[in-house]
Amino acid sequence: MSAILMDGRSLAKKVGAEVKAAVAEMTATGQAKPGLATVLIGDDPASEIYVRNKRRLCVEAGMQDLHHHLPGNVTQQQAIDLIDELAANPSVSGILVQLPVPGKINAEELLSRIPADKDIDGLTVANAGLLAQGLPGHRPCTPAGILRLLDEYKVDLEGATAVVVGRSRLVGKPMAQLLLERNATVTVAHSRTRDLDQICQSADILIAAAGVPGIITADAVRPGATVIDVGIHRDGDRLRGDVDFDAVSTIAGRLTPVPGGVGPMTIAMLLVNTLTAAQKANDVKENNVNSRIP
Ligand code: GUN
Repeated sequence: MSAILMDGRSLAKKVGAEVKAAVAEMTATGQAKPGLATVLIGDDPASEIYVRNKRRLCVEAGMQDLHHHLPGNVTQQQAIDLIDELAANPSVSGILVQLPVPGKINAEELLSRIPADKDIDGLTVANAGLLAQGLPGHRPCTPAGILRLLDEYKVDLEGATAVVVGRSRLVGKPMAQLLLERNATVTVAHSRTRDLDQICQSADILIAAAGVPGIITADAVRPGATVIDVGIHRDGDRLRGDVDFDAVSTIAGRLTPVPGGVGPMTIAMLLVNTLTAAQKANDVKENNVNSRIP
């Protein structure tokens, strides 16, 4: 193996500690703890594990865990009522509806009820629009975490060729926009792309977010490239990503492991977004109070 492994686990710990220190400072100055409301609908085992990890790290960072679990047979109206209640609750800094939701629930309608400033997942039309326009807003956690990891390992994005494989709303699309914002030259490839290997070969930075185990083989990687593996798939009793790790690790310059690469960074950025949301809400509150003082 020649690639440098990009250790998302240790960077996520560092980011978590920074968030914890900021939360402690907030509470020391009499401000309320940030509150993260995770909403899990149904009993998808993978989603249960993801949400459990998010909640655990939220508590470790000193935030309030305001979790809600709705049964799989909940009605659309009951789910909407919960989101509306969380939207109006000042203790809730951020709302995360874990995706996917059961088939008969309309996720779009639920997301549309989340106020943009509490949308710490960056999934609402408002935050997606802000990103598309290059304006400040909450950015989706996985691409934001990848950017933080690239920065930590001093990967030069300016003028670099980046290929993003995958065009999902959670990862591919926002990743491409964030890389573009950092002056990379970005290509988005997907399931219908012809000559995928050839296109990937052009990448200084290759982001594998196709959701297909092992789709990125050694033939798709330019020697020395930075390869980020967003995939996570169960394969017997082990986990694997979208990248053929053993083969690609002999060619890439830098590579994220699965697990321990992108996954922990997603949660770390969720904590950052929740903290930012709480800080903004406190600023608004203070300004409103001050504006009433003659
Ligand atoms: N499902 C898988 N990843 C995510 C994520 O980042 N946010 C939400 N809301 N659901 C997910």
